[in-house]
Amino acid sequence: MGELGSPGSTRSAGGWVRNENTGPVYGSVVQAGTIGQVHLTPSRPVVPRQLPAAPEPFTGREPDLAALSEILIGHAEHSVAVIHGTGGIGKTWLALHWAYRHLDLFPDGQLFVDLHGFSPSAKAMDARTALRALLEGLGVTPTGIPTDHAAQLGLYRSLVAGRRMLIVLDNAMGRR
Ligand SMILES: Nc1ncnc2c1ncn2[C@@H]1O[C@H](COP(=O)(O)OP(=O)(O)OP(=O)(O)O)[C@@H](O)[C@H]1O
Ligand SMILES: [Mg+2]
Repeated sequence: MGELGSPGSTRSAGGWVRNENTGPVYGSVVQAGTIGQVHLTPSRPVVPRQLPAAPEPFTGREPDLAALSEILIGHAEHSVAVIHGTGGIGKTWLALHWAYRHLDLFPDGQLFVDLHGFSPSAKAMDARTALRALLEGLGVTPTGIPTDHAAQLGLYRSLVAGRRMLIVLDNAMGRR
């Protein structure tokens, strides 16, 4: 409740009511002026499931799968594995097969972005566009994405903090 007649307040049958929102709000806001008290419980975070279908029939690659596990499981809070090699050698299938084998390690979701680094038909995705794609994958609506890049990064970090997620960036041209 705010001051009588202060900015943002409305008059209802029960008197002056002022609504305030703190923190980010995504989606609709319901104004319930005359109800009295409204308790809003935080909505559950989106659990993205963006991986393309599991590749079948997958054969071999056991040393490579073991190498990915060595890098990605159990060492640090954040781990990065890079799979590189010439076109068609099996990079995407390896990444997806490993991901599906270990889905249980990432209960908070899996994000997948095709950066089109080598696509003859699509323009390579720049880092800023990829960040927007990741935010949308995390449930942020296009209108909820901040315009400022630093704010976008901050929102992304906030949304993935403390969550066990797998993020697959396919067809990256380089490290940046
Ligand atoms: N382990 C595997 N078992 C069976 N087939 C495979 C395996 N890995 C790859 N393939 C076959 O090779 C094809 C190319 O694999 P994939 O798309 O993973 O290559 P890539 O290295 O990601 O290629 P690009 O560089 O063009 O993205 C697959 O469509 C599949 O037919
Ligand atoms: Mg590929």
